[in-house]
Amino acid sequence: MKKITLLQLRNKLVLIIFFLFAITNVMAQEKISLDEDWKFHFGHAANVEKDFDYSKTALLHKSNVYATTIVHPKFIDSTWQKINVPHDWAVELPFVKSEQVEMDSHGYKPVGGAYPETSIGWYRKHFSVDKSKSNKRFELQFDGIYRNAEIWLNGFYVGTNFSGYVGNSYDVSDYMNFDNENVLVIRVDATQYEGWFYEGAGIYRHVWLNCTDKTFIPEDGVFVHSNVKGNNAEVTIETTVQNNDLKNSNSIVYSYITDRNGKILVRTKKQKVNLGILKNQTIKQHLQLKNPELWSLENPYLYRVVSVLKSENQIIHQTKTRFGIKSVQFDAKEGFFLNGKHIKIQGTNNHQDHAGIGSALPDYMQYYRIKLLKEMGSNAYRSSHHAPTPELLEACDSLGMLVIDEQRLLNSSPEYIDQFKRLLKRDRNHPSVFLWSIGNEEQNIQGNEYGKKISQTLLAIQKDIDPSRTSTYAADMGNDFKGVNEVIPIRGFNYREYAVADYHKDHPNQPLLGTEMGSTVTTRGIYEKDEIRAYVPDQDITHPWWASKAETWWKLAAENKYWLGGFVWTGFDYRGEPTPYKWPNISSHFGILDVCGFPKNIYYYYKSWWTNEDILHISPHWNWPDKVGKPIDVWVNSNADEVELFLNEKSLGKKTMERNSHLQWNVLYEPGTLEAIAYKKGKKNIAKIETTGQATNVVLTPDKTILMADGKDATVVNISITDEKGREVPTANNMISFTITENAKIIGVGNGDPSSHEPDKCATHSWQRSAFNGKCQVIIQAGKNTGEVTFEAKSIGLKSTTKILKLVNSN
Ligand code: GAL
Repeated sequence: MKKITLLQLRNKLVLIIFFLFAITNVMAQEKISLDEDWKFHFGHAANVEKDFDYSKTALLHKSNVYATTIVHPKFIDSTWQKINVPHDWAVELPFVKSEQVEMDSHGYKPVGGAYPETSIGWYRKHFSVDKSKSNKRFELQFDGIYRNAEIWLNGFYVGTNFSGYVGNSYDVSDYMNFDNENVLVIRVDATQYEGWFYEGAGIYRHVWLNCTDKTFIPEDGVFVHSNVKGNNAEVTIETTVQNNDLKNSNSIVYSYITDRNGKILVRTKKQKVNLGILKNQTIKQHLQLKNPELWSLENPYLYRVVSVLKSENQIIHQTKTRFGIKSVQFDAKEGFFLNGKHIKIQGTNNHQDHAGIGSALPDYMQYYRIKLLKEMGSNAYRSSHHAPTPELLEACDSLGMLVIDEQRLLNSSPEYIDQFKRLLKRDRNHPSVFLWSIGNEEQNIQGNEYGKKISQTLLAIQKDIDPSRTSTYAADMGNDFKGVNEVIPIRGFNYREYAVADYHKDHPNQPLLGTEMGSTVTTRGIYEKDEIRAYVPDQDITHPWWASKAETWWKLAAENKYWLGGFVWTGFDYRGEPTPYKWPNISSHFGILDVCGFPKNIYYYYKSWWTNEDILHISPHWNWPDKVGKPIDVWVNSNADEVELFLNEKSLGKKTMERNSHLQWNVLYEPGTLEAIAYKKGKKNIAKIETTGQATNVVLTPDKTILMADGKDATVVNISITDEKGREVPTANNMISFTITENAKIIGVGNGDPSSHEPDKCATHSWQRSAFNGKCQVIIQAGKNTGEVTFEAKSIGLKSTTKILKLVNSN
């Protein structure tokens, strides 16, 4: 017998392992992130040459394009800007003062038809796929591109996604290269607006390459819904199998449910699926779950359905879908019930941009933002007025936040029906979604027959694709029943809270929801109206004519059972829609939190009536050197029974706290300490504010200090300027500069000042931002190597500070 040396044995083993790896790799399906290493260049909406001859060269008249065109794989893009997606080019542009229509509403960023040179973006991405996968099916999945994205792969036109919000997927199996690299080219055209708020521009959500067998379960091919009956739940699992092979396919499909730790609880039977060429079939299976843990706001329990597709005894596709079990009831007289428990909807409306980064949010930011809203006591989020980012819904599923998922337009044209169907199919497994919205404030049609008919069509589509839920529509119509309101299952009120009672009398069987409520405009830390700088006082005082103060709507909603609750316009400030002033104001003031997520005073109003925590908050701050001896309106937000206020230990009187209200004292200013003592059922709670000293320190508070070294994880670092006793100086506006060591990067800075024209982005690494009323914010993204990162903040005349962040292995 031939002897094998140790070295030969090792080589053989390596070969076997390599072979096994190759086989499993061929067998396995993959979801490959295409977020990294893109090339970006502006095109031009009015100059063909500057738009790489787009519309001059024939990109569409032959199936594969000529070598001279931009979409040809050989086109040289080496000088283009290197970027990763999510990417929002609008946030990088300067603010431009302009009277152009839509400029103010879009935050004075030069994007749109009037700015052809900064409204077209070309993206190119090179990637390779191993030859061992050449018999697979490939699909490109784009979660969201703003907007009108034309897509080519290897010179072949793939498709156009008109929507800036709902993603789309394309089968590209026939165009894939395995010997050469693949080149994906996208022309993004942001010359048209879809909304009247900042919308960003570019590939601002994830891009995926999905690789499966030719017989497979499509991305949106699993639908899980359940019915709670007594202590049990009947779970229905609908699984679609698609055969894209050019021969018949015989497979077996089954599913099982696991708990959140992966323990298998129940399985369906195995069911044969025999499919002809290019055919699909949906298999409906039922499972009983005994004593399920229900998905609730306090315990957002998530089960998983694992769907398995087998052929010739091999698993050819397996998917995992998170779902939750809950029961929902809307009662026109008694209100809203989740799992049989009465809940008042304490919601906020939100757009999707954040300080520093515009609409291109790392996934972590979705969790950060939802966490802030949840801490305030909010239990519901309306994604106004468009499809949310998938990761936002994942955050809401995981953290326990209900969601209204909204269609961009009330329109039943084939384009918008298609968008609505894609939205419904993409999002119907998310337990957080408790209501669909078919549109918002379509003043030209909401009160007439067009509106009624379009709604009926959209409602029928919703029931067909998701029979487990119902819909609302956000109407700015007051007590008016015509049109959409005649047919909508849940009547939505945008503002006009005074009309709700009469409407309820006239239509006692239609549940009522405040889809947009309140809308006090406030600038964080500002206490005087300032028409020059375009600031409004940070108290529940100022609102546009169509809206109301927080206390006006919330008292009605809280005290009348027939109100399901409502959604404040808005949770966070957002870019665009400056109100009541325009330039220099570039972002809205409607938020309870500013664009960075720093609370304004109204936050404590909502928190005092939306949570059971003991809240005691005094405003304004107590640094008024020019106001000695002059009167100041002091507000106290609390949910105690009584509050007594003291200035420098002298009592200013005790007051009884009216429910869903606040307390006010008129105080002659003298520096020192303003103290509130609250009494609640005999329990004492104390809060105080003090006149601070000079600013001396920069204090850094990272949301987390341990990040995954995956190149995607991120953290917010909040920055506060304090005096030597550690008290935040509420008027400090010092300029702060930031540095970070290799292996992590700063991706944006902000300060919540709605009139700041400082850049949020910095191409040269000289990051800086002034504080606004004591605070600013930096967003940091992790690199890919484990180890420590040092983040430093410096400001002339203040003590500089460093923070160490740790990057750890993601496994
Ligand atoms: C509403 C509209 C919102 C926002 C708001 C500002 O009418 O639905 O998108 O524009 O007004 O107050």
